[in-house]
Amino acid sequence: MYREDFPILNNDLIYFDNGATTLKPQKVIDAVVDYYSNYTANAHRGDYDNSLKVDMKYEEVRTKVKNLINCDSEKEIIFTSGTTDSLNRIVFGYMKHYLHAGDEVLITKAEHASNVLPWLELEKEIGIKVKYIPLENHLVTIENVKNSITEKTKVISLAHITNVLGDVRPVLEIGKLCRDRHILFVVDGAQSVPHIKVDVKQLNIDFLAFSAHKMLGPTGVGVLYGRYELLEQLQPTIVGGGMNSSFTSTGEVEYKSLPSRLEAGTPNIAGVIGMGAAIDYLMSIGIDTITEYERHLKHYFLEKVKDIPKVIVYNQDVEGGLIAFNIDGVFSQDTAVYLNHYHICVRAGNHCAKILKEDLLVKNTCRISFYFYNTEEEIDKLIEVLRNSEDIFKIVL
Ligand SMILES: Cc1ncc(COP(=O)(O)O)c(C=O)c1O
Repeated sequence: MYREDFPILNNDLIYFDNGATTLKPQKVIDAVVDYYSNYTANAHRGDYDNSLKVDMKYEEVRTKVKNLINCDSEKEIIFTSGTTDSLNRIVFGYMKHYLHAGDEVLITKAEHASNVLPWLELEKEIGIKVKYIPLENHLVTIENVKNSITEKTKVISLAHITNVLGDVRPVLEIGKLCRDRHILFVVDGAQSVPHIKVDVKQLNIDFLAFSAHKMLGPTGVGVLYGRYELLEQLQPTIVGGGMNSSFTSTGEVEYKSLPSRLEAGTPNIAGVIGMGAAIDYLMSIGIDTITEYERHLKHYFLEKVKDIPKVIVYNQDVEGGLIAFNIDGVFSQDTAVYLNHYHICVRAGNHCAKILKEDLLVKNTCRISFYFYNTEEEIDKLIEVLRNSEDIFKIVL
């Protein structure tokens, strides 16, 4: 689907590493080049034509993001450098002031480092308690979430879809549970927003973080969504130009209102404009179409791989378009290097979720992550290469 829109696919390349970052369509590249070639100016600072055009384009993207995740207002959308940045701001800009020693934050052992390390830092800093919801066959169940909640639970922070196994968490039920019990619900949407519909109101999400580069957009730009009344309380973790209305040498400082208050310094203007083009592109295909097609590709792969017993798949039953596997007796990195020999790109390692090895009991896996431009023919090629992998060590060593 739509392969002609992706210039990089003119090369001999099978790209199955979309969980790490996605390829960029010409429209996104053009939008970025257009800004740099034809109307470069800073944002929110000038009174000349190009500067006004930049302001308009930049703020238009805020509306596109608002529509994408169905929040109430553009003021609830903060542009950041990505999911990691967004989650850090939630933890150090909001939670650090909201939580107290002894308060409990629930996460799981399958979270990305970006949704673990900030909480562990906060635990050290102010004495909150980070607790892990037990996983059932590596998955989050609503029962286990319920059983993990105590009267001290103040926050649940989870990936909507994990980057290791691609399991889709029961976010609708967890969101309802959180709302009923006055627990804040933080969702890491890095692997969900590009692939499935995410409606922050329907899901009762209080804070959402995601990255443009995993949804066709440029690197170095992302989104922090927060419910307005929460964002109002979120302290800027970076201060400087663009976010203050006045300050004096004697220390009286007045900050701007949302969203400017949380966007200090010159933003990644080209990145934001590129993200807008990416959202337009995704909307033109339709998120539901993307979800369905990825699931089809995943099932296609699973059917084909069935008769290669040496390929161990760890996540047969999960919904997301992601396969975690190893070739029996082969270190995952060696498999990735072997596949690279055939210009097939997959990710090998622990996928930044280092503590999952305690639960999955394998240290490393190879990860295939599909997007809508992948094809059955590409999977056929991968299957052939996996089937004929007797010579793997000749190639790798
Ligand atoms: C689930 C999840 N959370 C967070 C991140 C971090 O995203 P970024 O590196 O864009 O900040 C990733 C990236 O792989 C991810 O998969």
